[in-house]
Amino acid sequence: MKFLQISSLFIFMFITFNFVSAQQIQIPSNISASCRAEIQKLASSSDLSSCASFIKLYALQNETMQFATSLAPIYDSYCAAPKCNDNTTSADATELKSQCQSDLTVKDPTVTYLKNVLVFNSPLKDSLCFKNSSGGYCVLDPNSDLILNYVLGLNATPPADVSCTDCNKAILNTFANYFKSNSQSVSELPSDPTSFENTVTTQCGSTFLMVSPCTLHLLLALQCLRTLSS
Ligand SMILES: *[C@@H]1O[C@H](CO)[C@@H](O)[C@H](O)[C@H]1NC(C)=O
Ligand SMILES: *[C@@H]1O[C@H](CO)[C@@H](O)[C@H](O)[C@H]1NC(C)=O
Ligand SMILES: *[C@@H]1O[C@H](CO)[C@@H](O)[C@H](O)[C@H]1NC(C)=O
Ligand SMILES: *[C@@H]1O[C@H](CO)[C@@H](O)[C@H](O)[C@H]1NC(C)=O
Repeated sequence: MKFLQISSLFIFMFITFNFVSAQQIQIPSNISASCRAEIQKLASSSDLSSCASFIKLYALQNETMQFATSLAPIYDSYCAAPKCNDNTTSADATELKSQCQSDLTVKDPTVTYLKNVLVFNSPLKDSLCFKNSSGGYCVLDPNSDLILNYVLGLNATPPADVSCTDCNKAILNTFANYFKSNSQSVSELPSDPTSFENTVTTQCGSTFLMVSPCTLHLLLALQCLRTLSS
């Protein structure tokens, strides 16, 4: 089934972890001991518990077979939480990279996922919370979901097709602006996004990636104002 890839990745992680609660996590048995301790520390950290971190998305665990109506409340709760402080998440990412070196070298999917969710904390929160003109979460659209997985570095293959929607414009510009102002973050991706930029401008026009997401339309503008004031 080709839908909700990012949710599937979250679900993958949470099933893998088989969370009983934030404090009692089961981590895949092949993760190194130092990495296991680090993940346990992050999952029970009070900093990450009080903001929009991966911890707020635990509830996706049981939503594999369900659709937007059951997923939206989970995003509502994540999006209502304040954005995590970038200083906290980047310190957490640095610590994770040092404690999970061997796991990241073999590209363990769970650890790679956690690392990128921490590294891209800010554009990810914005992107997961953008809504379309009818008030639905952008990320529930399969094309937006594929694009988000790619720019987040969870999928090395760029999507071949880009729908030229306001949602995709907002997500792509959010990440493009982030890559521009945090150029070192591009090294966290499995592939250089430059050729994908060409795909986007070929399909959606040369100005598609040159617009502030804050000017797109009212709902997106409200998200941006919240972001800017947080
Ligand atoms: C998922 O479902 C299982 C079994 O019904 C339940 O024990 C568990 O608490 C649920 N997890 C979440 C995060 O809702
Ligand atoms: C993050 O760290 C920078 C540099 O140390 C500091 O100037 C900034 O105020 C910090 N931001 C927050 C939100 O704590
Ligand atoms: C653990 O096993 C999974 C599934 O075989 C694999 O994808 C992953 O890379 C392994 N992780 C480590 C750290 O070896
Ligand atoms: C808005 O997103 C929802 C899913 O969240 C979707 O069902 C709906 O068709 C989208 N509306 C528009 C106008 O794109």
